[in-house]
Amino acid sequence: MSDAYKRVAGERALDYVKDGMVLGLGTGSTVYYTLQKLGRLVQEGLQIKGIPTSKATEVMAKELGIPLTNFREHPVLDITIDGADAVTPKLELVKGGGGALLREKLVAGASKQMIVIVDESKRVDSFDGVSIPVEVVPFAVETTVERIRALGGRPTMRQDGDELFVTDNAHYIVDVTFASVPDVAALHDRLKRLTGVVETGLFPDLASFVIVGSARGVDVVE
Ligand code: 5RP
Repeated sequence: MSDAYKRVAGERALDYVKDGMVLGLGTGSTVYYTLQKLGRLVQEGLQIKGIPTSKATEVMAKELGIPLTNFREHPVLDITIDGADAVTPKLELVKGGGGALLREKLVAGASKQMIVIVDESKRVDSFDGVSIPVEVVPFAVETTVERIRALGGRPTMRQDGDELFVTDNAHYIVDVTFASVPDVAALHDRLKRLTGVVETGLFPDLASFVIVGSARGVDVVE
């Protein structure tokens, strides 16, 4: 069922898209449905340009004939549409399940609006015990992992088969859980202060609103 919920949320986000907009194109299985429909709309004459948040999205957008652009031509985007791994009632997000969190945060941060699309399984009350992806530089990764542990986290290096997972930016991902996350922005700041940490998958204040797909259809949470 979750795929049907992802589809309804992913497609609904396109109701907010108008001719002439520059869009941030997120990454993941929910955005997949957005891209499929966006490709059809472009074939029908919708005039937009997109900036992809990952190589996977770039490949898919090209296959679907979605015109792409870049930050040199368009430093400010109109809307980013992206998924999330977890969403609180305050619209705080955990992202990076697909490993694209750094580009996703750069693209969302350059956008006037970020529309988040999820199925209802992503709604949580807090990030206590939720796996939080953290992008780290490979050099001295052992030290960085120990520093994350010293902050109270339980870190696991993300794997890709027998190898370590490598991001589009040639970094590693450490998936970290914390028993208690009372202040999302403060946890982001503490992690980000570690020299080996490039970015965290905590997005405390970027979502404009969230479209949640469920058996009821869609709810828009603001
Ligand atoms: C990728 C992401 C995705 O948006 C997030 O993992 C949700 O993915 P999906 O829509 O497949 O559940 O942050 O880095």
